[in-house]
Amino acid sequence: MMLLHKTLLFVICLASCYSDATQPIDQVMEKLIKLISEEQILKPVKFKLPVWEKQLGLYRSEIRLDFFDKPYEAELRKNKFIYVFDNNMFATGWISTVLLEANMYGRAPQTIDTEHLSLAFDAIEKFHDHNQNESAVPLMTFWSQIYNATTNTWESAPDNLRYLITDLDKNLLIIEDILKTLGVKNIAQLIDKLRTSSASFKDVFEIPPDFDDTYLNIGFGVQLKLLQDKYPSLFQRWVQTNSNMKKLIDLTLQYAYRPSSQLLDQNTIDPRTYFWLRDFVRDNPQAIIVTTWAQNIAEVRKVAHQGIRMPFNLNNVDVTVGANVLYGITSAMVYDLLDFKTYFTKDMETLYFSTASLIAWSIKNSMKNRPDLAQVYYPSHYNFLWYGSRTLFLLELTRRQQKSLPDVFNRVYALLADVYRNDVVKYFKEHVRSDLSSYDDFLGANDTNIFGKAEPTGEDRIFSTAQTVNVLLASFAYLDANTGKLKWINGSKQIEIVQTMTNRSVSWLLNNSFKYQSFNCFFSGSVKGFNQLPFWYPANTYQYLNGTTFDPNRFDINNQSLVDTIVGVSGYINETIYQHMIEEKHFNVSTPTTFNGYNVPGGEFPFWSSQPYTYSVTLLALAQYNNLDK
Ligand SMILES: *[C@@H]1O[C@H](CO)[C@@H](O)[C@H](O)[C@H]1NC(C)=O
Ligand SMILES: *[C@@H]1O[C@H](CO)[C@@H](O)[C@H](O)[C@H]1NC(C)=O
Ligand SMILES: *[C@@H]1O[C@H](CO)[C@@H](O)[C@H](O)[C@H]1NC(C)=O
Ligand SMILES: *[C@@H]1O[C@H](CO)[C@@H](O)[C@H](O)[C@H]1NC(C)=O
Ligand SMILES: *[C@@H]1O[C@H](CO)[C@@H](O)[C@H](O)[C@H]1NC(C)=O
Ligand SMILES: *[C@@H]1O[C@H](CO)[C@@H](O)[C@H](O)[C@H]1NC(C)=O
Ligand SMILES: *[C@@H]1O[C@H](CO)[C@@H](O)[C@H](O)[C@H]1NC(C)=O
Ligand SMILES: *[C@@H]1O[C@H](CO)[C@@H](O)[C@H](O)[C@H]1NC(C)=O
Ligand SMILES: *[C@@H]1O[C@H](CO)[C@@H](O)[C@H](O)[C@H]1NC(C)=O
Ligand SMILES: *[C@@H]1O[C@H](CO)[C@@H](O)[C@H](O)[C@H]1NC(C)=O
Repeated sequence: MMLLHKTLLFVICLASCYSDATQPIDQVMEKLIKLISEEQILKPVKFKLPVWEKQLGLYRSEIRLDFFDKPYEAELRKNKFIYVFDNNMFATGWISTVLLEANMYGRAPQTIDTEHLSLAFDAIEKFHDHNQNESAVPLMTFWSQIYNATTNTWESAPDNLRYLITDLDKNLLIIEDILKTLGVKNIAQLIDKLRTSSASFKDVFEIPPDFDDTYLNIGFGVQLKLLQDKYPSLFQRWVQTNSNMKKLIDLTLQYAYRPSSQLLDQNTIDPRTYFWLRDFVRDNPQAIIVTTWAQNIAEVRKVAHQGIRMPFNLNNVDVTVGANVLYGITSAMVYDLLDFKTYFTKDMETLYFSTASLIAWSIKNSMKNRPDLAQVYYPSHYNFLWYGSRTLFLLELTRRQQKSLPDVFNRVYALLADVYRNDVVKYFKEHVRSDLSSYDDFLGANDTNIFGKAEPTGEDRIFSTAQTVNVLLASFAYLDANTGKLKWINGSKQIEIVQTMTNRSVSWLLNNSFKYQSFNCFFSGSVKGFNQLPFWYPANTYQYLNGTTFDPNRFDINNQSLVDTIVGVSGYINETIYQHMIEEKHFNVSTPTTFNGYNVPGGEFPFWSSQPYTYSVTLLALAQYNNLDK
């Protein structure tokens, strides 16, 4: 506790005593802080095409379509007028977290003041799940809910998409006219794509609360607890609506995936999930793995028609969600958030260890070459790696302060230290661009110029490069409580090469932070194209929502709807049998066994991008570098 307090004194001083805006790094940080603050909504805006609804306090976040290849196609992806503004808590939750961390772990001018943090806080508070019976349950939703009097339930819905789809044809005409006026070419293709994907947009409506947003909010709560001296009222307000840690842990365990359970509700998972993690489940039959959605089969049968349902009526596992839950649990335990420690049961310990093991296994096995299924909602690999590295950073800090934690935290530390200090560094070495300084994920990576020659645009380059720096620092540096500085760990053979990599990427960020699009792909729907639909993967459970089973070989997808079906894998399928199932067709479609990247013809999927999120992780990278004891 003493050490912690010392650290916090530094934190407060670091932000308020900073007055050294002469170096290039300071100028870049100042500009980033300004650009981020300009993207916060300070006045709510109502929907009326072409004006999007914007909720007070949130930061900008956009839905775009991942068109690629020829210049006119690329234009439909990146045009500054072609997007739908999205009001979600995920981007704002992360931006707030990162702004606070830039001052906690980094050396930077003050990133956000009480007034603006308070606005973001109030905005995030609107994303609580209102269908809970107990009070102060910290269960969160990606989109805020509206009350439906007919069904007496609260339903999630993305405001702008909902308005858009309510009168789709009319709205598409308006959009077409506006884009024509602006001189945008080839909009027919865009309108076609919008029309066909409106059905898949509908799928993502009505979603239940999720554990990703939920544990992001837990990490945010811990930060507010640590920064009580600086922002006194916020933690108290947070506690009022979030204090029910017992319920949080009950729910986390209730919806977890337990492959060896006898209960359908616990042992059944999306066939896409089973496809990539089945070897892990075989080797760890007693695993308890956190899932994406706070809903199970028994519940979806009851409430699907009241407007609350998981996509495809079944839960799944996403390593990115897992990484965020891991961090939320770690920070709640390390900083003793409310009574979290009291409810950290044996099963919760298993969930923590299983989820960490799955993350380490996935990285070591390159997601079994199916990142599209393993990161089913969160395609950015650099972002995923950073989320996972945050737990290692916190555990390294804890070890140095000799705090007492259950032994499982040592075992998770060992797993993450191994994978992040070896495999992840290897990944960066293999994926660095030819300049040996910067990194690309996939946005704009497959564009061509008017002569048909490859011309990648690097739209997620700033984001991916900044996250690489953040991963390297989280994995190889720790905060020294005596000096408030970040220090490199010693005793790693990799350290020199890691320092060189960090230096190069920081130099690249200083030179290029404003030279490329600042997009990222922080979120997406689970379906990227035909190959990511769950129905084509081997399964052993085929039911209607009402529980009646059906034979997939007698189901005509051209004539019958799959909307109210549950297609999943229950328990474990013997691998010999599974291999035969892969060879077979499902609903008369061959199993999609390979993944050819996110830019494939016909797979132009909607993705979520947030420029202020890119700028804030860039700020974090620079601020932390600036606080390194070199
Ligand atoms: C809340 O209580 C009602 C009535 O007892 C019950 O039907 C419903 O399932 C409960 N909801 C939750 C989320 O526990
Ligand atoms: C409320 O729910 C009913 C039944 O599911 C649905 O028909 C109706 O469209 C919903 N109302 C709104 C405003 O979404
Ligand atoms: C897209 O670009 C990447 C990187 O250059 C390449 O590996 C991949 O094969 C390309 N994909 C397609 C569909 O052209
Ligand atoms: C790091 O260096 C310090 C002082 O040189 C030493 O006491 C410590 O044991 C070293 N730690 C590791 C992990 O090598
Ligand atoms: C990285 O940059 C710092 C600051 O310029 C310098 O002191 C250090 O030697 C560099 N490290 C490596 C490995 O190049
Ligand atoms: C950044 O710019 C400086 C000055 O032009 C140059 O020396 C350095 O190599 C550049 N860094 C990178 C990574 O391109
Ligand atoms: C369940 O739903 C299916 C599809 O709508 C229907 O054919 C079947 O009769 C229903 N079964 C029961 C028991 O209601
Ligand atoms: C769909 O089913 C109906 C009734 O069974 C049948 O008359 C019709 O021909 C089928 N349509 C197709 C496209 O298979
Ligand atoms: C899987 O099934 C095959 C064929 O039925 C059988 O030979 C094998 O022993 C089974 N493997 C396991 C691990 O049960
Ligand atoms: C199955 O797909 C093939 C083409 O892949 C098609 O010729 C055939 O009619 C389909 N059968 C059914 C029952 O839909």
